Amino acid sequence: MAQRPNVNRTIATLRSTLSGFRAKRQTVALVPTMGALHRGHLALVKEAQKRARRVVVSIFVNPTQFAPHEDFGSYPRRFAADIQALTEAGVDVVWAPSPEVMYPAGFSTRLAPDGAALAGLEDKFRPHFFGGVATVVAKLFTQVAPDFAVFGQKDYQQLRVVTQMAKDLDLPVKIVGLPTVREKDGLALSSRNIYLSELERGHAPALYRTLKTSAERIKAGEPIEMVLEEGRAQIELAEFDLDYLEARHALTLAPVTSVKDGPIRLLVAAKIGKTRLIDNLAV
Ligand code: PAF
Repeated sequence: MAQRPNVNRTIATLRSTLSGFRAKRQTVALVPTMGALHRGHLALVKEAQKRARRVVVSIFVNPTQFAPHEDFGSYPRRFAADIQALTEAGVDVVWAPSPEVMYPAGFSTRLAPDGAALAGLEDKFRPHFFGGVATVVAKLFTQVAPDFAVFGQKDYQQLRVVTQMAKDLDLPVKIVGLPTVREKDGLALSSRNIYLSELERGHAPALYRTLKTSAERIKAGEPIEMVLEEGRAQIELAEFDLDYLEARHALTLAPVTSVKDGPIRLLVAAKIGKTRLIDNLAV
């Protein structure tokens, strides 16, 4: 029978668990999550298991990356099901601190990432987000001291921000970004997909379809701004309220006007009903 992961809820027990691994010179990979795990997270776990001898999955719905009007309160929390999935996946350790353990009374330090964190994409619509993410991920990296950390590419700007943060803070962790796992119709897996009504779920693959056709047209040499304008219209036709569809440099996230400025990444965010979805694709 598969063994339940060792669930740690305090810094002291986590340190003691990890020091056992370190004493045996075992490498450690971290998969940071907010729980409500799906196949996308399990693909990250698989990659982590290929990279390191021991895998730690953190489950922490981080309050500091949600604005007061966002879905912190209703964000799906399914701890028992997550532990079951991680048991079947053969994960060694779960790091599940409470908000009080992560942010004890008097906590007063917050990172303010620059560069890709101020690219005018997610940051424009969620100005609090990357400060919260960078701070909690820096804390997770300090707490776990992983050799590897595995993130999905679905939150592409987040991946760029945490990669730069680890580099800037000289944290000795290799960040690995894995391609987005999708449903058969192209919809990117997300813990928030459960918010979609049946009708909204029917419209949702329009995001990926638009990214795909836009990427093909840009690759074929069509003018980027014209392709994006048509893509924006297609997304709005599918009942979405569009935040952005942009073409950016894949590493810096700076605006691009020609394929010569590449490599290019297309990034999109849009609301359907009350649910905000994001996605991205390489050109
Ligand atoms: O992508 C997520 O699930 C979160 O933003 C992360 C990286 C776990 C930080 O809270």
